Amino acid sequence: ATLVVDASGGSPIPDTFFGIFFEEINHAGAGGLWAELVSNRGFEAGGPNTPSNIDPWSIIGDESSVSVSTDRSSLFERNKVALQMVVLCDSQGANICPAGGVGIYNPGFWGMNIEQGKKYKVLFYVRSTGSVNLKVSLTGSDGVGELASSEIILSESDVSNWKKVETTLEAKATNHNSRLQLTTTSKGVIWLDQVSAMPEDTYKGLGFRSELVQMLADLKPRFIRFPGGCFVEGEWLRNAFRWKATVGPWEERPGHFGDVWMYWTDDGLGYFEFLQLAEDLGALPIWVFNNGVSHNDQVDTSSILPFVQFARGDPNSKWGSLRASMGHPEPFDLRYVAIGNEDCGKKNYRGNYLKFYDAIKRTYPDIQMISNCDASSRPLDHPAHMYDYHIYTNANDMFSKAHAFDHASRIGPKAFVSEYAVTGRDAGTGSLLAALAEAGFLIGLEKNSDVVHMISYAPLFVNTNDRRWNPDAIVFNSYQLYGTPSYWVQQFFRESSGATLLKTNLTSTSSSSLSASAIAWQNSADGKNYLRVKVVNFGSDTVNLGVSIDGLDPKAVQLFGSTKTVLTSSNVMDENTFSDPNKVVPKQSQLSSAGKDMNVVFPPHSFTSFDLLK
Ligand code: AHR
Repeated sequence: ATLVVDASGGSPIPDTFFGIFFEEINHAGAGGLWAELVSNRGFEAGGPNTPSNIDPWSIIGDESSVSVSTDRSSLFERNKVALQMVVLCDSQGANICPAGGVGIYNPGFWGMNIEQGKKYKVLFYVRSTGSVNLKVSLTGSDGVGELASSEIILSESDVSNWKKVETTLEAKATNHNSRLQLTTTSKGVIWLDQVSAMPEDTYKGLGFRSELVQMLADLKPRFIRFPGGCFVEGEWLRNAFRWKATVGPWEERPGHFGDVWMYWTDDGLGYFEFLQLAEDLGALPIWVFNNGVSHNDQVDTSSILPFVQFARGDPNSKWGSLRASMGHPEPFDLRYVAIGNEDCGKKNYRGNYLKFYDAIKRTYPDIQMISNCDASSRPLDHPAHMYDYHIYTNANDMFSKAHAFDHASRIGPKAFVSEYAVTGRDAGTGSLLAALAEAGFLIGLEKNSDVVHMISYAPLFVNTNDRRWNPDAIVFNSYQLYGTPSYWVQQFFRESSGATLLKTNLTSTSSSSLSASAIAWQNSADGKNYLRVKVVNFGSDTVNLGVSIDGLDPKAVQLFGSTKTVLTSSNVMDENTFSDPNKVVPKQSQLSSAGKDMNVVFPPHSFTSFDLLK
C-alpha cells in the first residue's frame, strides 16, 4: 500500500474550518462551564408549570425554630420571587436557636468543589424586620467540617430595605462535595434573594471554570456556535432561549426552564457571556437564535415582526449601551448567525427565516446567515450564505460519510457541519471506535473544504450527574474532567483552519478501511512551515504504508526529525473514565524513518498523524 503526498501547490482550507459547538445540555453551562456554585440563586426555579421552587435549597432547623417560604417581594422587577424566612428562635430567652443557628443551605450542582487556599466571593441581598446576624459558611455536604466562614452583623436600619452584602471566604481545606450555608440566631423575618458564590479563580476572571475553558482553548477553535441545539428551540416557545432576558446585571435576569433538556438555568451564562467567551478563545461567535419555531409551537409568519430585532449596535444605541455598561463598549465581532436549529421542515420556517434574513441584511449586510436546510444534494429555495448539516449515526456509516460532500454543488451556499457524532451502541459514552469513524469523516470533510467551510462536534460537554445525551467530547463533575477519544481526534485537526490542503493519492488493497489527508501550514509560534499527514486505519489489520512526499526538502527532515502522534488502544470499544482518564489519548514519539520516502506502520484501529518540517 502506498500514499503519495504532493507537497507543492494545494488549495486553501477556510480560516474558519475547525470550531466548537456549545449547547446548554447535560448541565454543560449551569453547573459546568459557568463557575457559579449556587444552583437556583434567585429561588425562581420551577418546572414548566411551577412558578417557583426553592430546590435544591434546604432548610436548617425544624418547625419550632424556623419556617421558610417564598413571596414576590424581590427588588428585582423581572424575577420577583424572594425567600422569606421566619425565625422563631433566638440567641437568648425561652426558644434558644440550635447550635449553629437556623437558615438555609445550597448543595450547588451535585456538590460544590471548594479547594484549600482558594477564595470564594459570596454575594446576596437581604432585608429584615430587625437587626440581623448572619453566618455565611462553606461546609461538608452534611453541614459539618467547616471550610470557611464569615459573620455578618447588620443593624435594623441597614436591612429595613434590601441590602447587597458581599464577603470573600478563603477555604482552609478541600472538599469536592461542599455546600453553602446562611444561618442566623436573630428572631424576626428575614428575606433573602440572589445568593451567589463564585470562585475568584476563573478564566481571565470572567466567570468561566478555568480547566474546562482550557480544554476548549487547547482545540484552537476558530468559531464557537452557541447556545444550542434544541435548547434554542424549546419544546414550547415559552421556554425557548430569549437573549434579551440573559443580558444586563445577573441579578436582574429571570432565568428560564429549558424544557428540552429539562433543567432550570439562572442564565448567568447569557448572550453577553457567550460573546465574551468567544472573544477570549479567539473564536468567532456563531449565534443560533430562535426564529419563532419550537418543537411543538410556532409563531405564524404574519406575526413574526416583533421578534425580528437584532443587536450589534454602537455604544450609544439601546442594546449597544447595555453592552457597554457590562464592560464591553466595542461591538463584538459577530459575523455569523444561524436562523433556527433543525427547523427546515417546519411549516413557518421559510416564511420566518426570510423575515429575519431581510431585516438583518438591511441593517448588517456583512453578517452571514446560516439556513437549517441541507443543500448538500439539492439547491436551496431561499437565500443563505451557509447551510447546516447535522449527522448522528453508527460508526460504519459515519466512516463512509467521508464522501458526503464529494458531489455537493460547488456554487451557492457553503456547508456548516455544525453537529456530528457517532452515537448508539458503537459509541457508548465515548469509544475509540466512534472517534476513529469521526476521524475518517473529518478527513473527508477536510478534502472537501472548498465547500465545507466549518465543522463542529456535538455535544461538547457532559456533567456526569446529568447525562442527557451520549456521547460527548468533554466529561466532568464538580472537580474532575477528561476528554473522550472524540475530543482527542479533534486535536488532530486544530492546525487545519487556514492551512493548505495537499493532494494525496492512496492506493491500498484494504483502502476501504484506510483514509488519509495532508496539510501544510505555517506555525505562528516558530514561524516555520510544517506538513502534517493524517491516516486513519479503521480496520482490524496492521497496515504497512510506503509514504512518499513529493517536493519535500529531505535535508530539513533529517535535521529536525519528525513527530508521530497515534491514538489507539488495545480494544476498539475502550473509553476514558475519571479513574483512567488517559487510557485512550494521543501518544507522541519520534518517527524513526523520517524522510521523503518512508515506511510507516499503522496499528489496527488507529488514527496517526506525523508532522514534518517542510
Ligand atoms: O446535540 C444534541 C442535539 O442534537 C441538539 O440539541 C440538536 O440540534 C440535535 O438534534
